[in-house]
Amino acid sequence: MHKLREWLVPLAYFSNNLISRIGIFAVTAAGILWILLLPQLIRGTMANPYAGIVLFFGLPAVFLTGLVLIPIGVHTERKRMRDSGQHPQMVFDFRHPSVRKLAMFLGIATAANILIASQLSYTAVTYMDTDKFCGETCHTVMTPEFTAYLESPHARVQCVDCHIGPGAGWFVRYKLDGVGQLFAVIAHTYPKPIPSPVENLRPARETCERCHWPQRFSGDKFVVHTEYADDEQNTPATTVLLMKIGGQTWRGTVGIHGAHLDANTKIEYVTTDSTRQTIPQVIYTDPAGKTTVYNDTSAPVPAAKLDAAEHRIMDCMDCHNRPTHIFQLPEHAVDQEMADGHISPSLPFAKKESVAALKREYPDRDTAARDIAGALTGFYRDKYQQVYQTNKGAVEAAISAVQAIYARNVFPEMKVTWGTYPSNLGHMDSPGCFRCHDGNHTSADGKTIPNDCSTCHDMPANQEKNPKILNDLGLKPPASSAESDPPPAK
Ligand code: HEC
Ligand code: HEC
Ligand code: HEC
Ligand code: HEC
Ligand code: HEC
Repeated sequence: MHKLREWLVPLAYFSNNLISRIGIFAVTAAGILWILLLPQLIRGTMANPYAGIVLFFGLPAVFLTGLVLIPIGVHTERKRMRDSGQHPQMVFDFRHPSVRKLAMFLGIATAANILIASQLSYTAVTYMDTDKFCGETCHTVMTPEFTAYLESPHARVQCVDCHIGPGAGWFVRYKLDGVGQLFAVIAHTYPKPIPSPVENLRPARETCERCHWPQRFSGDKFVVHTEYADDEQNTPATTVLLMKIGGQTWRGTVGIHGAHLDANTKIEYVTTDSTRQTIPQVIYTDPAGKTTVYNDTSAPVPAAKLDAAEHRIMDCMDCHNRPTHIFQLPEHAVDQEMADGHISPSLPFAKKESVAALKREYPDRDTAARDIAGALTGFYRDKYQQVYQTNKGAVEAAISAVQAIYARNVFPEMKVTWGTYPSNLGHMDSPGCFRCHDGNHTSADGKTIPNDCSTCHDMPANQEKNPKILNDLGLKPPASSAESDPPPAK
């Protein structure tokens, strides 16, 4: 009993004042909580992102604050005693047994604290790299990107694999940026929508290329798109493209990837707008090292302005700028759902009415879901009573599909709507490839960045009802109203 009391002397010494006592309490409470939650921390599972924030940032904060409070309390207490003429209880002399005990106590406690604190901060840092933290913590802010990501080919790739990548330098850089972003979220000063492109996104060489081998030969890719018309029958028309993706072959590098990703070529461009949609100049270095400067002859820009504008070396992201945050346009999204059969092409005017419902402006997502259901139900109930009676299931399925399209593409809280984030992989909906391949980017000696339609793809079928190539290959023609029962008369 006496021994125990002797050992507790240092504790008594630390807790002879209120500040230190609060400190000891904070350290102990955080430490115990940490031990209780250890199994969850090790498994890395945390159902709720907010619980995660409290745990991973709150605990270390409480723990460290406690640690700091203890010596502050001791110091102020000693100062108070000296000021009031009292002798501090303890004199720092190592011959004194209680001083030796105090030193040992401090040693053991410090070792334990370093262990706990390092574990706490390690889990905090690892937690910040999970998709849950990136995608869900700042709820509204990241909802558009997170939602699109979850349905993309990269849904199993972590946010940090593209946005941070390996290595300590970028890690620290992004964490420092992150502090500013956290304050912006708290203060509600962040921009809506979040601007794109991400200005200092890490080069693709160090992110995408860790998984994708750029020289890999992908050959030609068969792309089949079916569009449905605005008429009562939703008449389908199918386009078939053979994309010349290419890559490395025995003939050297060929095709789209080959032309842009050959290790010996370099394509640098100058852009005068923050979304990189206007490209007045392209500087191309070919495999032999010869440099060609292409200028947009349709809209010349003075040299001084070109020098001051952003210069960028082209990489994956200049074509694949939406590899995972893929937002659709209403027409394409409805076409896709119709081809997949979620919106039945046998419903009269399904395409036209679905797109119209999607393009209307709604104050928020709940209202949108409700009004979309109201508009489509109303349309079929009033105008096509018989369809509505006999094919109610199809109407309801169409409503769910249209609501889902809206939900994954439009986010009024973040001012993200149709076309907010254009894709550069194409040229029909936004300039994309034609920012350079428009036939107007010409060099002083009269060379032009190629623009023939067969440069990038062959087009075996262009808006055809029953493409021969699909029949030749034994592929089924796209879904159309003709396949199902003809729509009953009004
Ligand atoms: C496959 C790689 C990849 C993954 C995985 C990824 N992103 Fe992105 N992200 C990008 C690219 C590429 C851009 C656009 C960059 C540009 O144009 O400069 C982008 C842009 C953004 C933007 C800016 C706004 C916008 O839409 O352009 C935000 C915010 C964002 N990402 C958040 C996230 C979050 C949160 C996650 C995880 C849930 C995530 N990203 C996962 C590649 C990725
Ligand atoms: C951690 C690995 C990883 C990283 C990093 C990564 N990807 Fe991918 N990517 C994949 C996987 C896996 C697939 C195949 C997904 C599937 O087929 O379902 C894929 C598919 C793709 C596709 C084909 C999509 C389609 O529609 O079929 C493109 C294009 C692509 N990635 C581009 C990129 C770009 C650009 C980046 C950098 C911003 C990137 N990837 C970073 C793993 C990665
Ligand atoms: C000049 C524009 C351009 C650049 C630069 C580019 N790509 Fe592509 N890539 C394309 C096009 C176009 C396609 C075909 C897309 C389609 O129609 O589905 C494609 C297809 C792909 C595919 C799918 C291949 C398949 O077989 O389905 C992957 C993966 C891919 N790119 C990865 C990358 C990566 C990684 C980089 C950077 C190292 C990159 N691309 C750079 C234009 C580009
Ligand atoms: C920043 C400008 C720029 C953009 C954007 C761009 N390209 Fe290019 N592309 C070039 C340049 C420069 C060349 C090389 C021209 C030369 O040979 O002198 C080239 C060459 C090509 C070639 C080889 C042409 C040939 O016959 O030699 C293909 C194919 C190609 N690009 C496809 C694409 C596709 C597909 C896209 C869009 C996804 C795209 N490019 C976007 C600048 C661009
Ligand atoms: C610099 C490369 C390039 C050139 C030149 C080019 N295209 Fe394209 N085109 C693309 C890419 C990339 C896509 C998108 C493919 C995808 O959606 O997967 C595309 C898509 C299309 C589509 C859309 C198909 C669909 O149903 O969505 C049509 C139509 C088309 N191109 C026609 C043309 C015509 C006509 C020309 C000649 C004036 C032309 N293209 C020249 C690269 C090119």
